Amino acid sequence: MQRLIGVSSTGKDSRLLMKMQSFRGFRDILPDEIALWHVVEAAARELFGLYGYSEIRTPVLEKVELFSRSVGEDTDIVQKEMYVIENKREGNMALRPEGTASVVRAYNEHNLAASRPVPEKLYYILPMFRHERPQAGRFRQFYQIGAEALGIDSPALDAEMIAMVAHLLKKFEVSSVEIHLNSVGCKNCRPQYREQLKTYLAASYPELCQDCRNRYERNPMRILDCKQAGCQQIVASAPVMLEHYCQACHAHFAELQEYLGIWGIEFRINPRMVRGLDYYVRTAFEFVSSSLGAQSAILGGGRYDGLSEDIGGPHLPGVGFAMGMERLISLLQVELRPQPIDVFIAVLGAAARKPAIALQRDLRQAGIRTELEYQEKSLKSQMKKAGKLGVSYTVILGENELAQGIAVVRDMRASSQHEAALDQLVVTLLHRVKG
Ligand code: HAM
Repeated sequence: MQRLIGVSSTGKDSRLLMKMQSFRGFRDILPDEIALWHVVEAAARELFGLYGYSEIRTPVLEKVELFSRSVGEDTDIVQKEMYVIENKREGNMALRPEGTASVVRAYNEHNLAASRPVPEKLYYILPMFRHERPQAGRFRQFYQIGAEALGIDSPALDAEMIAMVAHLLKKFEVSSVEIHLNSVGCKNCRPQYREQLKTYLAASYPELCQDCRNRYERNPMRILDCKQAGCQQIVASAPVMLEHYCQACHAHFAELQEYLGIWGIEFRINPRMVRGLDYYVRTAFEFVSSSLGAQSAILGGGRYDGLSEDIGGPHLPGVGFAMGMERLISLLQVELRPQPIDVFIAVLGAAARKPAIALQRDLRQAGIRTELEYQEKSLKSQMKKAGKLGVSYTVILGENELAQGIAVVRDMRASSQHEAALDQLVVTLLHRVKG
């Protein structure tokens, strides 16, 4: 909880004349990129609909405790990465670092259980904020596509969640993705395993990295997926949770694997995969791509049956996933351009401006994407602009044409032009543009 920011600042400092730039790790999504984002969002929404999910949008700011009590007081997210705004009256506010806790909070707060079927299936496409060291694939503001299924603890739902995500990636033709699956046990079997793990690690404690020495007392299971070579060597022969499940966890995990078989999903059991959020019980999974470099997880998720109680709600089992949109988009090969403008109106002379605006209004109302020249410019420069916009037709409207009740329509692809009656122009262009 390190990023304490004041609630208001006048911004008056000696750097006032400094050229403004965005903060590190906060990126602009520019017009040439956005078409791909739209395609991804539309495909995700369609797929969520197919699996029975409805959208939810939660606020950007939440109480700090929502995350410290669910994601976990000792996690990197809460300890180091949350942006916190001081708010003496109502309690400090956090820019949400993830979506699961907010969705469960909203579900309980609005008592959706009373009015909606179980399981409740909710998805979100929202920005998240984490104060991490920016690098390729890691940002401080990033977008997640995520989904949560609430109210049922059957492993059939975990399998469906994993299958739905695999379906989503298939839609985008993302290959070279490996599914890593684990079960991290539950509050019945995990404490005993933790003790065994600590006993094993005690001998190598001095050789652990500083972060892992801090984890040793409070969260020793996180040491299992430390990325430091020295720690990885130590945990290579550590006892794994897999050998310590209680009967219920064992059965849950076995059933999950059977259901995944029905869905035709291939996976790899990775007993050392421990996710960076404390709320997981039993199922944990990550989809990993070798094409993503160091930040290889395209998405992660799992089951969190105790989360609701941790934030003061009723017992509410749940399972979900979240995928980094920037990471997904970096894997997509397609390049999509924004929708092109159909018609450009070249305006010649002041008297033509008002009729040109009226024509633009009529063309747009007919569904034709139209732009015109807002400044006084030569015909040559306006034609150059029409070329830049990539329009199919340019309408040239000058005082002479107006006097005759016509306009010149130039077919930009055929490099030919003809005169058309002004009062027929919308119909003429509609016919040509829309076929
Ligand atoms: P997470 O593993 O912390 O899980 O994040 C999910 C995904 O968000 C990651 O796999 C990655 O693609 C993306 N991501 C995380 N941090 C960054 C970052 N700094 N920059 C870019 N992308 C990032 C969760 O957030 C859980 N709420 C997932 C979940 C939902 N579990 C159950 N339901």
